[in-house]
Amino acid sequence: MQVVAVMNYKGGVGKTTLTANLGAEVASRGHRVLLIDLDPQANLTFSFYSVDQWREDLRKDSTIMRWYEGEMPGRDVDLHQLIVTPQLVNQEFAESGGRLDLIPSHLKLIDIDLRLAARLGAGTTLAESKRKFLDLHGCLARALRHEAFQEYDLILIDCAPNFGLVTKTAIVASDHVLVPAKADYLSTLGIQYLAHNCDELVAEYNDFVNYSAAGSDVDRAISTRFVGVVFTMVRFHAKKPIGTQRYYIEEVRLNGDIPVLTGVIRDSPRHFGDAGENGVPAVLRAPVTDDVVVEFRSLATEILDAVTKGATR
Ligand SMILES: Nc1ncnc2c1ncn2[C@@H]1O[C@H](COP(=O)(O)OP(=O)(O)OP(=O)(O)O)[C@@H](O)[C@H]1O
Ligand SMILES: [Mg+2]
Repeated sequence: MQVVAVMNYKGGVGKTTLTANLGAEVASRGHRVLLIDLDPQANLTFSFYSVDQWREDLRKDSTIMRWYEGEMPGRDVDLHQLIVTPQLVNQEFAESGGRLDLIPSHLKLIDIDLRLAARLGAGTTLAESKRKFLDLHGCLARALRHEAFQEYDLILIDCAPNFGLVTKTAIVASDHVLVPAKADYLSTLGIQYLAHNCDELVAEYNDFVNYSAAGSDVDRAISTRFVGVVFTMVRFHAKKPIGTQRYYIEEVRLNGDIPVLTGVIRDSPRHFGDAGENGVPAVLRAPVTDDVVVEFRSLATEILDAVTKGATR
């Protein structure tokens, strides 16, 4: 079981589109995939359920909100109790035997970071402060160790476009971080900073684990790594990304903060413009010879190889 956080605190770079399509592609290969929606926009959830279905079937009892909102995450409900199986997309895996499950999000998750931060408050002693830090930042990592999650081959976590507490719980819980980015000035500007912040979080978390060695069974040192940057919404001319985008892709590659994956996702409003409306991601709806499907398949292979072979930074 590998856990991958799909993360970039830049908004609108294709995180959710990548998570939904990558999850669907991997499940279509016969694997068991779990998607966790940690974004209060709940776009990943709405990629598989209509708003009406969410309101009627999920909102009250079956969203990640229930898990985070207790006195401490997970105290009121076990994470695995929130797993749902979207019907429409799973019909696509009848032949391969794959499965795509989801832990849905809730629009009210919007202020959860503030509420969690209030609980983090300063402890009266150093040991107490560190205990609280570990409790919160490591909560998702601990929950995913439950046997219910060991049956999955891949768990993808769609993060909100921020580096708040909930996003940090995702990074701590993940073996790998995948960073979708657009090939433009503002999107590439933040990549170095993002790499630095993730590395700092991992180092800080491990300091705390080492300090409170007594908690070794509960809180383990982590070695979250980057799978790489995936460039999304790439525009092609004569089978190559257009000049300006090529420049930014090369720039990120040369900077070397995070490896750049060979595969990219092209800009295609035709495929992704109605993302979510069908309950089945584009990669499963288009013909197998379609450029976007071919690209997604080779990207999925590249990501799975990197994740399973540990060929990441
Ligand atoms: N390859 C693509 N080609 C064309 N449009 C795309 C592509 N990928 C995503 N989009 C569209 O761009 C918008 C943003 O994509 P998406 O929601 O996946 O980004 P995000 O990074 O998850 O955003 P947020 O930060 O708000 O969570 C959506 O309208 C989506 O349909
Ligand atoms: Mg999103």
